[in-house]
Amino acid sequence: MCSAVVEDPRINSRIVTAYRQKTPGSADLAQQALELLPSGIAHDARNVDPYGIYVARAKGPHKWDVDGNKYVDYFGGHGALILGHGNPVVAAAIAEAAADGSQFGSSHPREIGWAKAIQRLIPSAERVRFTSSGTEATLMGVRLARAFTGKNSILRFKGHFHGWHDHMAAGYSNHFDGTPTPGVIQGIADKTVLCMPNDTAGVAAALESNKDIAVVLLEPTGSSFGQLPLRDEFVHALRELTTKHGVLLMFDEVVTGFRTSKGGAQMHYGIRPDLSSFAKIVAGGMPGAAIAGRKDILDLLDFKASAAAGREKIGHPGTFNANPISAAAGIAALTIIAETDINGQANATCGALRDGLNGVLSDEGVRWAVYGTTSGFHLFLNPNNRDISAKTFDPFDASFDELKSSPTKVVNRMRLAMLVNGVDLNPRLGGFTSCTHTAQDVTDTVVAFRESIRMLKAEGEL
Ligand SMILES: Cc1ncc(COP(=O)(O)O)c(C=O)c1O
Repeated sequence: MCSAVVEDPRINSRIVTAYRQKTPGSADLAQQALELLPSGIAHDARNVDPYGIYVARAKGPHKWDVDGNKYVDYFGGHGALILGHGNPVVAAAIAEAAADGSQFGSSHPREIGWAKAIQRLIPSAERVRFTSSGTEATLMGVRLARAFTGKNSILRFKGHFHGWHDHMAAGYSNHFDGTPTPGVIQGIADKTVLCMPNDTAGVAAALESNKDIAVVLLEPTGSSFGQLPLRDEFVHALRELTTKHGVLLMFDEVVTGFRTSKGGAQMHYGIRPDLSSFAKIVAGGMPGAAIAGRKDILDLLDFKASAAAGREKIGHPGTFNANPISAAAGIAALTIIAETDINGQANATCGALRDGLNGVLSDEGVRWAVYGTTSGFHLFLNPNNRDISAKTFDPFDASFDELKSSPTKVVNRMRLAMLVNGVDLNPRLGGFTSCTHTAQDVTDTVVAFRESIRMLKAEGEL
C-alpha cells in the first residue's frame, strides 16, 4: 500500500509546518498510538508521515478532526460510503437494529432481507453467504472454486487487490515474481498464476498450458478501481476463455459492487460471473461482506446438498456472519441504491471534479493528469515527465509502472498539502465521490488543489 518517507521535523517545509500547526490534537493522539499500535495505525492506508488526522465525526461528504478542522472527504470509507457519511435512513436502520440486539447466535429475519436486497441488484447471486470482510469473501471464493473444480491454482492479475489473506498477499504491490510475502509459505505462492492485465493472449496461454487453474479472479474495472483500467473486450474475453476451459470466473466486486453501476461491474459489462465477492457498500458502511454466485457452487456450503452429493461440505462458521446491525444497514443502503439514482449523482459530481482538477493542472503547467470513470478519480503523476495534456490523458497509453508509480515524498507532501487546504484524499491521491458531494464541494476541492500545487511548487517538489 503506501510506503512512508520520514518527514524530519526539522525540515524546512511550509506544508509540514502548516499541517502540524493545524492538527496538534491529532499529533498528540498519534504520539500515544505509537506506544500501542504498530506504526500507530490500524490499516496500512492510514500511514501518513508525520501522522494522519484523527477524526471525531463525519456527515455527508465532510469529516471533522479532533481539532475541529473540516475536510471534504474523498476517502469515502475506503469506498464504502457512496451514500456519504451518516445517511439518515441507514443511521436509523442501524439504531433500530442495535436496540434489538447485536448478536443472537441464531438466524434472524434481516439476513433474509439483506440477501434479497443483493439479489434484486445482482441476478448472478443465486445464493449468498455472508462474511465479515471482503478478505474473508475472496478467501471463501477461492476455497469454493477449488472444491468445485477439483483444481488447485488460481489465476490473478498483477496489481489487483483482493484482501490480505495468504492467497492474495503477493502480486498486488510487490512480489510480482511469484515469491511469497513474509509469513506466507512458498507452497501457497506457487499456486498463483499472475498475468498482466489486458493481456488476453497471456491468459489464453496460461489456461491452455496449466490445467490446474480453478478460478480466474479480478477487480473487474481494473486494479484499484480502475487506476489501471481494463479494456471491455479483455473482460469479455475472460468470460469466454474461462467457459471454454472449464475454469470459474470470479468478479471481486468489493469496490465496484453497487458503485460502477447499481448492479456493479457485472451489470456494466453485461457479464455473468460464476462467483462474486462484495463488501463495503453491501453493508451500508458497516462491517460486512458476502460471497455470492451460482447455486451449484454455493451448494458446497449446504449441508443437505453436500450429503446428497456424497461429498464433504465446506465448513463455514464466523461469529459475526450476517450480524443484524450490518444487515439492517445493508438493506437500507441497497434499497436506496435500487430505488434512486444515487450512482448517477456520484458519477456526475466525479466527472465535474475530474474536469476541475485537470483545469488546474493545465493552468499551472503541471504535467500530471486526473482520470477515472464513474465515481472514482486517480492522479497520474507522470514519473517519466512525458509531454501529456491533463485534459486528454488516456491511461491506456501509460504502462503499468507509470500508472502505479508513487514517488513517496511528493505523494506525502501533496496529501498533507490537501489536508492543510481542507481535503482528504486516499494514499494514491485519488478517491471516491458520494451522492452527497455537492458542486460547492467540487469548487472547494479545486481551490484546495490549486493552492496545494502552488505549495508544492514553492518547495521545489514540482
Ligand atoms: C477489490 C478489493 N477486494 C477485497 C478487499 C478486502 O476487503 P476488506 O478490507 O473488507 O477485507 C478490498 C479492500 O479494499 C478491495 O478493494
